[in-house]
Amino acid sequence: MEKKLATGDIQFFPNQTRGNMTNNPEATNFPDLNRRDFLRASTGATLLFAMGGFPDNVRAATVHTLPPLPYAENALVPVISANTVSFHYGKHHKGYVANLNKLVAGTEFADLSLEKIIDATAGQAEKTAIFNNAAQIWNHTFYWRSLKVNGGGAPPAALKQKIEASFGSVDVCKKELVTAATTQFGSGWAWLVLDGDKLKVVKTGNADLPMTKGMKPLLTIDVWEHAYYLDYQNRRADYVNAVLDKLINWDFAAGNLGS
Ligand SMILES: [Fe+2]
Repeated sequence: MEKKLATGDIQFFPNQTRGNMTNNPEATNFPDLNRRDFLRASTGATLLFAMGGFPDNVRAATVHTLPPLPYAENALVPVISANTVSFHYGKHHKGYVANLNKLVAGTEFADLSLEKIIDATAGQAEKTAIFNNAAQIWNHTFYWRSLKVNGGGAPPAALKQKIEASFGSVDVCKKELVTAATTQFGSGWAWLVLDGDKLKVVKTGNADLPMTKGMKPLLTIDVWEHAYYLDYQNRRADYVNAVLDKLINWDFAAGNLGS
């Protein structure tokens, strides 16, 4: 039986509507650093007062905006070029935000947070376009946070212990991530997730994400071609291995595990 979407676990974006809008993005109280950082990076959903551009029935809509990158576009060089980040973030990620705002304007989804839109549209064929764009916004914001300058190395102790209990060793976990990332046919994502009390590696196709299967994501690697093709062409495995060795943000994963 399909598990329910664990929306309670994925409240990385604030749902700001007219009733709770604040000019201070720090005002929302998140329990841990990662969520706080993520919120800061996603001051995202801001209120639109119907300023003439929307029909009268759209009183107040949640407008999704592109969260800032947590580092400079050239910060991931030489593993991921500034050119790739510029297109990936500035065109693809930004494009999903623009598409979602167009798709939900004037609909029942206009006032919903990103997570609620994902929750409400997952698995519904007639809502695929809304789901895809909402999930891709969420996935990409999570992906940028899954990478950091001088990443890789050893995970923090608590996460390392959990990885060893679930996989036997960090190396096995990394190998499973490489396998998931390189065997995902076509576009998609490789994830380290918490499923019950165990860590697992899973892959999802296109825009799909682990929450639709009740799993809590800890980190992700984007394996859409736009994530690596300018730098690695068809060598997806080289991109994934380099990300795991040099950029992967175990601290982010540890924070998600503990939250
Ligand atoms: Fe992507």
